[in-house]
Amino acid sequence: MTTATHTGPPVSHLDPFCDELILEPYAMHAELRDLGPVVRLEKYGVWAMARHVDVYAMLNDWETYCSSAGVGFGNFHTEKPWRPPSLILEADPPLHTRTRAVLSRVLSSSALRRMREMFETRAAALVERLLERGRIDAMVDCANAFPLEVFPDAVGLTKNGRENLAPYGNAVFNADGPPDGALFQSAMKDAARVGPWILAQCRRDALAPGGLGADVYTSVDSGEIDADEAALLVRSLLSAGLDTTVQGIGNALYCFVNHPAQWALLHANPALARAAFEEALRYESPVTAFFRTTTREVTVGDVTMGPEEKVLAFFGAANRDPRMWNDPDVFDITRKVSKNVAFGAGIHFCVGAMLARLEAEVLLTAMARRIKTIEPAGEPVRLLNNALRGLTSLPVTVTAS
Ligand code: HEM
Repeated sequence: MTTATHTGPPVSHLDPFCDELILEPYAMHAELRDLGPVVRLEKYGVWAMARHVDVYAMLNDWETYCSSAGVGFGNFHTEKPWRPPSLILEADPPLHTRTRAVLSRVLSSSALRRMREMFETRAAALVERLLERGRIDAMVDCANAFPLEVFPDAVGLTKNGRENLAPYGNAVFNADGPPDGALFQSAMKDAARVGPWILAQCRRDALAPGGLGADVYTSVDSGEIDADEAALLVRSLLSAGLDTTVQGIGNALYCFVNHPAQWALLHANPALARAAFEEALRYESPVTAFFRTTTREVTVGDVTMGPEEKVLAFFGAANRDPRMWNDPDVFDITRKVSKNVAFGAGIHFCVGAMLARLEAEVLLTAMARRIKTIEPAGEPVRLLNNALRGLTSLPVTVTAS
């Protein structure tokens, strides 16, 4: 192992942003958890937390661990951000309280209820198309296809140019990594290519009436936010709403392909779909880690961190911490997973969680009703991304019940 413990804070020489550990992070997660509540990542001069109790506490203490300096590598207090910061993800109260209220209303479960029927009709049709083919790529034909069909319509986007959404989301998550890395560099190129289209879709006149985007702008009419703020909040939906859900659904399918007994359980009882998605989020968390920045000197365990220090919260590691979960490396859709941090925790808990859950639940339910078996038909291909864990390809065969 490349890790050593010195007197003073535990130190790790591991690089969570190297290709090898992006692709296979779980041994590193265990090592970081075992080193202590807070570990120094020597290569980058930042701190990391990987135990559930500490990640959870950090996410719930925004006054000590702020988001306004960015949730990626850079510190916006001292470095220029690569784009105007998010008014919600990269903000603290009181700004965050105001913008969060707008998106909480737009994405509340009651606001989303009207979408369920449209989602169900489309999921059922998609599943029939999958069964007709028998052999499919579950990432391309299912995990990507379904959110790409329903999410842009839910927001109220124009049909033209939707292919720009996925590269933008991918770039936004890669931009959280080290700026001298290849993934960050390619993210900047992708963002420059597709960014103008994204920004154009955030304008009020580009958004269809009745969609989530138009709904954000009703808060301009009521005086809660101004039009420039509304555009940036719509940008947040487009940045965070697609790739996360695609990888969440894809990871769930990957879990089922590798755990056929769990698929048999879901097939026998499709009402388990929602719980199954939560367990998949715990087991293969799509958002692997985000940073916070300390606002003051703070001591955790035996380690004292200074102000303006970056601290990386490993959501994926916390979700497999044996101090928190029994048999964390077992995928079990009957498990109770409240307090898993796949959607974060505290004031920044994912404001789109209800929408992601609705999409996944509807799709998994439709699949469970009609698909008896889902089996591997080739090697899966992993996504290489600084903050997203998932796949680009998952060849499978499906058979009808
Ligand atoms: C399975 C799918 C998803 C996962 C795993 C996920 C994960 C997360 C996580 C971990 C956070 C917390 C970030 C932090 O604490 O710094 C977050 C926040 C956020 N998510 Fe999601 N997300 C998903 C889907 C969505 C969707 C569908 C949308 C929008 C339609 C969305 C929009 C947001 C926004 C705007 C925030 C910032 C909230 C705030 O700062 O108050 N997410 N998400």
